Amino acid sequence: MQVQNKVIIIDFGSQYTQLIARRIREAGVYSEIHPCTVSMDELKALEPSALVLSGGPASVGSTDSPGIDDAIFAMNLPILGICYGMQLIAYKFSGKVEPSTNREYGRSTLEFSEDCLLWDSLSQKKTLTVWMSHGDTVLSPPPGFKVLARTDGVDIAAMGNVDRKIYAVQFHPEVAHTEDGFKILHNFLFKVAGLKPDWSMSSFIEDAIQNMSKAIGDEHVVCGLSGGIDSTVVAVLLHKAIGKRLHCILVDNGVLRHGEGQEVVETLREHFDLNLKYVQAQERFLSRLEGVVDPEEKRKIIGHTFIEVFDEEARSIPGVRWLAQGTLYPDVIESVSFKGPSAVIKSHHNVGGLPEKMNLKLVEPLRELFKDEARKVAVELGIPDVIVWRHPFPGPGLAIRIIGEITAERLDILRQADRIVQAELQTSDWYRKVWQGFAVLLPLKTVGVMGDERTYENVVALRIVDSVDAMTADWSRVPSEILARMSNRIINEVRGVNRVVFDISSKPPSTIEWE
Ligand code: XMP
Repeated sequence: MQVQNKVIIIDFGSQYTQLIARRIREAGVYSEIHPCTVSMDELKALEPSALVLSGGPASVGSTDSPGIDDAIFAMNLPILGICYGMQLIAYKFSGKVEPSTNREYGRSTLEFSEDCLLWDSLSQKKTLTVWMSHGDTVLSPPPGFKVLARTDGVDIAAMGNVDRKIYAVQFHPEVAHTEDGFKILHNFLFKVAGLKPDWSMSSFIEDAIQNMSKAIGDEHVVCGLSGGIDSTVVAVLLHKAIGKRLHCILVDNGVLRHGEGQEVVETLREHFDLNLKYVQAQERFLSRLEGVVDPEEKRKIIGHTFIEVFDEEARSIPGVRWLAQGTLYPDVIESVSFKGPSAVIKSHHNVGGLPEKMNLKLVEPLRELFKDEARKVAVELGIPDVIVWRHPFPGPGLAIRIIGEITAERLDILRQADRIVQAELQTSDWYRKVWQGFAVLLPLKTVGVMGDERTYENVVALRIVDSVDAMTADWSRVPSEILARMSNRIINEVRGVNRVVFDISSKPPSTIEWE
């Protein structure tokens, strides 16, 4: 890779570690995360220009807390310690650190105690609202370190050894809730460490292509396409790395949106010269879903059947040794420990299963990116807007948006209603403003009146949400005229529906999908 400036983040297990990497990349500086168990030789070979020591759930005083080699400090690099990283610096340089009597979580007011490069162009503000979450507190700074800020809860909320360019903050500058947090990170990168922004998404692409081409050599790779942005970006990157040795498979599971499978295949064939097989397995999926009501059961059937179909198809391609997946960082934090000791949160539906069964090596070039970063890569790669801006769509598709039993008739009703929702979002220019919008078919009928006739028909719910990462979401304040048009059109055009309701729940406590 061509970049000269590289920040290595040493991960002590914070949920925010990847966010630090992302903020640094947003500032135009390349950054990589390595576990705190990284050896000195490995670290030196990476040739970092600066280090960040992340937060983490441990307490520096406890016997099993993660540490670092003292030789790291002898590298004489600029260092920023965040939360646990700050406590570790204090501990390593003989400051006093103790478990807090006064734990702070959430918002706090930071007061600057001293001017320094980290507060450059901020100190006229005197105070900042910052996001704290910590268990230990630094009670006295190590020799050579000055106290740079305090909060109501802690006297030493930031400290620094200006000569050695080692700074530490107890709060999280990487999270959006910290006022001017990005400015503080910028100040560390550009004012303290004197780095230059020489990284961009195009360097990411160049790098990913080079790395994959080197790792894969002359072997063959199979990649499942869904029509979503993640798998498409992976396929296009791989295509650039290994050309026709990439084999893409799109499985139609019978629960895709109206015309979706065909549309995706046509778009991809038109824009990219991919080896792409469109497998029509609708019958196999739908026959197994017959009579199934429980959403978990639906998910399992679809998951297993997908693995079965994909495995059969992949085996028919000679010489395949690798499986490509569009795993993004949020899938990783939700599923497994990220390189370092990050806490496991929950197992994820899209990660796992397939690689074990197929005994293939995994290639996951987007593993360290967030969705919007994957979108930037897609734009850079010239992937068409219909794919770049396509709303997320769950693997089990419409099966979890038909509450209750899936029948051909109910699938048809939902597809027609959903098509109207998509069309109205598009024509009103709301499609890109929302995270996701779709129709759900409920398992109940209600009374209505059409003409002079009493009707007893289905209810469709509209679910349209705003979100940044799907971890939290709120219902979108879509103008009522648009909702009215959706409702009128669905009731008039879709036979079998006489009532439309709009879901006004947030996540949490609700979820985006109804299941
Ligand atoms: P929930 O319903 O958990 O959904 O709030 C969060 C986001 O994840 C999507 N989703 C899935 N995506 N496979 C996927 O690829 C799945 O099984 C799945 N289930 C939910 C959902 O559409 C929303 O964007």
